[in-house]
Amino acid sequence: MRTRPLKVALLGCGVVGSEVARIMTTHADDLAARIGAPVELAGVAVRRPAKVREGIDPSLVTTDATALVKRGDIDVVVEVIGGIEPARSLITTAFEHGASVVSANKALLAQDGAALHAAAEEHGRDLYYEAAVAGAIPLIRPLRESLAGDKVNRVLGIVNGTTNFILDKMDSTGAGYQEALDEATALGYAEADPTADVEGFDAAAKAAILAGIAFHTRVRLDDVYREGMTEVTAADFRSAKEMGCTIKLLAICERSADGTSVTARVHPAMIPLSHPLASVRGAYNAVFVESDAAGQLMFYGPGAGGSPTASAVLGDLVAVCRNRLNGATGPGESAYADLTVSPMGEVVTRYHISLDVADKPGVLAQVATVFAEHGVSIDTVRQQGKDGEASLVVVTHRASDASLSGTVEALRKLDTVRGVASIMRVEGE
Ligand SMILES: NC(=O)c1ccc[n+]([C@@H]2O[C@H](COP(=O)([O-])OP(=O)(O)OC[C@H]3O[C@@H](n4cnc5c(N)ncnc54)[C@H](OP(=O)(O)O)[C@@H]3O)[C@@H](O)[C@H]2O)c1
Repeated sequence: MRTRPLKVALLGCGVVGSEVARIMTTHADDLAARIGAPVELAGVAVRRPAKVREGIDPSLVTTDATALVKRGDIDVVVEVIGGIEPARSLITTAFEHGASVVSANKALLAQDGAALHAAAEEHGRDLYYEAAVAGAIPLIRPLRESLAGDKVNRVLGIVNGTTNFILDKMDSTGAGYQEALDEATALGYAEADPTADVEGFDAAAKAAILAGIAFHTRVRLDDVYREGMTEVTAADFRSAKEMGCTIKLLAICERSADGTSVTARVHPAMIPLSHPLASVRGAYNAVFVESDAAGQLMFYGPGAGGSPTASAVLGDLVAVCRNRLNGATGPGESAYADLTVSPMGEVVTRYHISLDVADKPGVLAQVATVFAEHGVSIDTVRQQGKDGEASLVVVTHRASDASLSGTVEALRKLDTVRGVASIMRVEGE
């Protein structure tokens, strides 16, 4: 074993960074044996240097992250600051000064992954980011390496623990969205400002990363259709139950039937209780991958938290250090397939639509005609009357999102349709 240590600069020492530092210290001998050389924490960049950080030598702490990555003797930079800047500049500077990079930063990778990969390649360095998607769950390496000989057709995942916790609460207790969100906040599962989670921004960033890797195609954050879950109601859960389904916020990356294009989207959807993703409870994450040769694979585990996320960071750190000792680099960006990324209108799926309608003869026929005129075939219809008003629940066969939007627009114009109470996609069948 080499005795000269590999030097690691830790950028950020918060929820994730403090756990990375702890494991680097407590597992130092095992890490050295697995890598073939010891790893040394050479510096820790933070914003508030005076904060007491258990287990961190205060002489290593600095507020000058740029100077740390420019030192020239750093082998690996671990970026766990988060956000776009200064993380992006620090990573680019790290490559320019000879370091490889491990990051947990989904927002940055989804936005600037291509440029960062190009910078890594230009300087002959590694860029690894297993922790950026679904925390501890090994997903990026299986897609990039284990499935490199297969053809992935679909990635369907619960990639945000906060929203899964909220939806699971609504499902199991009958609570409304706000009540479930309040509980998630009180228990520390939701941040004071939950927008990034509940509006689907966090999941969309992960969908962009996953789709890019799964389909060997650049998928930008703007390519991902995004709908949050704030409009999901207790009534939607009752409807889902009547259909033998539950509701999850899903990230769905799909190859088209003819294989020439892909789509990526995040939205709430009904899935059958028999689907493996339906049983993912609480704040857990799970990703279901379908490929030509392997068939169906499910990856499941904690999608966030300091220690689980640090596990993924440390796995990358070991891989990057091994590459470094071998004078090699691991797989970089693979975008050779360059498939067309299609808009949401071309997505084909099933829909569950609840309409408030006048309770009088002929309404059902009128509504059915609108569906037929837009080429959307109806699977089932359920009608319930109350005091001259009725609710109509229509479940369709597979249709394009554009056809469904046209249908809904036309339905809204009917005098007999008082309102469209909810539209929910049905997935996983
Ligand atoms: N938390 C999770 O469960 C989780 C899961 C998966 C991925 N991630 C990703 O991991 C990354 C870190 O998340 P986190 O939860 O650990 O964040 P965090 O607890 O807010 O920690 C951020 C750290 O960065 C430091 N920092 C902020 N601005 C800085 C600057 N300009 N220069 C130097 N240091 C700076 C902070 O310093 P101070 O300590 O002085 O404030 C803090 O130590 C993010 O990209 C996040 O998306 C997190």
